[in-house]
Amino acid sequence: MEIVILPSPSDVARAAADEIALLVESQPTSVLGLATGSSPLGVYEELAMRAEAGTLDFSSTRAFALDEYLGIPADQPQSYAHVIESSVIRPLRMNPSFVQVPDGRAHDLEAACVRFESAIAAAGGVDLQILGIGANGHIGFNEPTSSFASRTRIKTLTPQTRADNARFFPSLDNVPTHCITQGLGTIMEARRIVLVAQGAAKANAISAAVEGPVSSICPASILQHHPRATLFVDEAAAAQLSLAGYYRYVNENKCAW
Ligand code: GLP
Repeated sequence: MEIVILPSPSDVARAAADEIALLVESQPTSVLGLATGSSPLGVYEELAMRAEAGTLDFSSTRAFALDEYLGIPADQPQSYAHVIESSVIRPLRMNPSFVQVPDGRAHDLEAACVRFESAIAAAGGVDLQILGIGANGHIGFNEPTSSFASRTRIKTLTPQTRADNARFFPSLDNVPTHCITQGLGTIMEARRIVLVAQGAAKANAISAAVEGPVSSICPASILQHHPRATLFVDEAAAAQLSLAGYYRYVNENKCAW
């Protein structure tokens, strides 16, 4: 894993946006994996500025979202379909027909999960997956003890995740109990992974993911097995990394071989 510690959340957003821009500039038809939650919003804002300035063109870029709540209509502000539309598709000027979000309202949810996996495969897989991380180490909605081999499926949200996400809903009671999420096996097939984390509330999860054992109790720790995963974290999210000094040293002494 490459760990990049940056002074502030806006530096994290800029650095992650630079990685995505590099890919899309060289390969405009790339396939992106999109995360929701507040962590990647700054990244999307950075990319939107570049799209608006005409220096970055997402019109032929395809994308797949990580997850969706079950049972929320797509036009409700809390649905991830709505979030992806308003914070990614429109500001980045993407073609809406090139972006897919798991269907949390499907009549046959299991079939919807299978269709979603097939659509990713038909697109040739994800070139770059953007990730946030939950306070309990979840990625997507793969809660602790998720199988490392898991594919897109229905999951039950932990009480902690529901409480963490209640800020987006009128009350805790309105937070769905279930979701559809890409599996850890699905996420690990992305060719490049860029995870962003900001703030002290993520320090524990980041330390467990980076320096803890690879264990399903911290789902993000599976990223230790990914050949090209970069974690952009601000100082607060890096606060519990025992090797923080080494990660800084590595980044300050990049070798040009
Ligand atoms: C949400 C999403 C994740 C996200 C995480 C962190 O529940 N399903 O994809 O990374 O939790 O959210 P936030 O970035 O708002 O802290």
